[in-house]
Amino acid sequence: MIVVPGPASGQLGSRIAELLGAEPVSVDYKGFPDGESYIRYTRSVAGEEVAIIQTTAPPQDTHLLQLFLLIKTAKDLGARSAVSAVPYLAYARQDKRFREGEAVSIKTIVGLIEAAGADYFITINIHNPEILDEFSIPSKNLSAIPLLAEFFKEKGLKRAFSLAPDEGALGMAKEADEVMGGGYGWLRKRRDRITGDVEAEGGALDVRGKDAVVYDDIISTGGTMALAVKILKDQGARRVYAACVHPLLVANAGERILESGAEGIVGTDCVPSSFSVVSVAPLLAKALRGVS
Ligand code: R5P
Repeated sequence: MIVVPGPASGQLGSRIAELLGAEPVSVDYKGFPDGESYIRYTRSVAGEEVAIIQTTAPPQDTHLLQLFLLIKTAKDLGARSAVSAVPYLAYARQDKRFREGEAVSIKTIVGLIEAAGADYFITINIHNPEILDEFSIPSKNLSAIPLLAEFFKEKGLKRAFSLAPDEGALGMAKEADEVMGGGYGWLRKRRDRITGDVEAEGGALDVRGKDAVVYDDIISTGGTMALAVKILKDQGARRVYAACVHPLLVANAGERILESGAEGIVGTDCVPSSFSVVSVAPLLAKALRGVS
């Protein structure tokens, strides 16, 4: 297998190549003055099994387009197969027609990945794993939650309480609790579909005097996380940390969460950011070993 670190996941892709003992393939990238994307493979990929590592964090549309170009070009150049590893899959939250007439955007994205010629698809903590049923190629959804929980354990947060900021994240809190062992809970969240504002409540949580970590798949505006941290602090939690797999952290999301009382924010390199301290390279390398 040869590994192609895409322009959105250069560092992660190189780490994965190193872990696999595979050659990282350098690709030339540029953006034309009018905004169009250009890619060029600098070596032959003919006959190879090519693993393309490309996240689709902001700017999502550019990173998606680069992903399609990388897959399609590898196949055009005679690659035996193209494994598409997309640590963060953009548009996954638009998985339903929430309001009459809306696009179910993720269905279009899945169709385009397949149409480009991907033979296998891997992602991490996709917002709704049922989306993978839309693929007709084999696909896999990995979880980085144990890696995040291990990080906190190693930092000395033993037996911290694991909180899901909404019901959809409950599985993540349970997974974290298997590592942390300090109990888990979840909040009931409601989001206004037009303004994006969130409200949440969770009844009494067993957190007084305890350390706690809030786990979510994505931090976008930080509204959900800030609210969850505040609820934990109001209920007497000691130190509270915000953890997520995909730290999109748009605008002042980081400040917003820290101002709500969080000691720190910890994310993964599924989305590069100043908070992406946990690497998913070992997780993806292991999954890629299973493909070839
Ligand atoms: C939604 O259900 C997701 O799991 C996250 O909770 C959400 O995307 C976070 O968004 P924000 O940071 O804007 O509140």
